[in-house]
Amino acid sequence: MTPLIPYHARFFKRTRKYNIHFRFVSQKFPNLEKIFSRGWHGGKRAPGAKGSVRSEPAARRRVSRGNQAIVSYVLKDKVVWITGASSGIGWACVEAFVAAGARVAASARRTDRLSELAGQLGRNRVAPVPLDVTDADGRRAAHDEIRAALGAVDVLINNAGWAGFGRVVAQPSADLRRMIELNVLAPVELARIVLPDMLSRRHGQVINIASVVGYQSIPRMTVYSATKAFLLSFSTGLRMEIAGSGVDVISVAPGSTRTPFFENASNVNVRPVRLARTQYSPQHVARAVVRASRARRREVILSAEGITIAGIRRLSHRLADAIMLRFARFAMPEAGDTGS
Ligand SMILES: NC(=O)c1ccc[n+]([C@@H]2O[C@H](COP(=O)([O-])OP(=O)(O)OC[C@H]3O[C@@H](n4cnc5c(N)ncnc54)[C@H](OP(=O)(O)O)[C@@H]3O)[C@@H](O)[C@H]2O)c1
Repeated sequence: MTPLIPYHARFFKRTRKYNIHFRFVSQKFPNLEKIFSRGWHGGKRAPGAKGSVRSEPAARRRVSRGNQAIVSYVLKDKVVWITGASSGIGWACVEAFVAAGARVAASARRTDRLSELAGQLGRNRVAPVPLDVTDADGRRAAHDEIRAALGAVDVLINNAGWAGFGRVVAQPSADLRRMIELNVLAPVELARIVLPDMLSRRHGQVINIASVVGYQSIPRMTVYSATKAFLLSFSTGLRMEIAGSGVDVISVAPGSTRTPFFENASNVNVRPVRLARTQYSPQHVARAVVRASRARRREVILSAEGITIAGIRRLSHRLADAIMLRFARFAMPEAGDTGS
């Protein structure tokens, strides 16, 4: 389980109040502070090593920030399996994790793109592992291939995803099924494949790339939003199920990002023309994923608009719905919409 105080305290770290609070805790309850700073499950100290923390798995390293201590996840030489690596956010994640020192197994269906990526970054750092993540046998075979070539997977990044735009009643069943199989079923099954190894080794991470629309659904992307809400909920539940195991479950929710995502999406009577006015770069998202991994975060929302709408929803569902409906009409007009 991740340390409690340092994460919560991060919000207050620049405030005087927090410094006083932390100093108070440190002075009055030194043992309590030690427990917090290495996590509840902590571990035994090395015999005779007074005051020191027991040897931790090589996966983690204790670092200090100011007067708080956290256990960060060390990415150097870790085996990171990234799905949807042939494009957009997945491609940028491969670059970012390689830059962080990891060895990456890059999966997607387009083998030529994976070869290009491996050629650019070096085949000793990137192993192309072609995979359609909706193929159950293919998932197992890909995992076996990675294990044999690189070793056990340390970090799984469930990134492959796809969207269909349009009203639920108008969208073809095949599109709805594709979204659910790709965005929902595949990440769950991939997590189930890598988790046994992670749990037995007592370290690892499952990182799910969700979306801000998982926090507040947007009409005309209703089923896509629902698949991302599923991923958020799945991440939360899984995190609690394996709490204390040393394995992290992290959800990252990007806002609108400059990738071929919108061109690849299917459209039924909707033009997502203005959805992407203020887009983040995929590199921005990838850097945030690396940071979330290192800092062992639980949930990350990446855009200011996403944080705002998620906050508004907590206050008033009615208001959040009204904002999103108006935004959908503006950003994804249908024939007949004024676009205002
Ligand atoms: N772009 C955004 O605005 C945005 C915002 C929030 C969240 N997201 C999420 O971020 C993730 C990445 O999206 P992106 O923007 O990078 O889109 P993208 O450029 O279209 O990339 C999608 C990736 O998914 C892969 N993929 C699709 N179907 C697959 C399948 N059946 N099996 C294996 N791989 C498959 C594609 O590779 P192949 O075609 O080669 O298989 C591609 O590499 C998605 O989960 C998306 O929902 C995107």
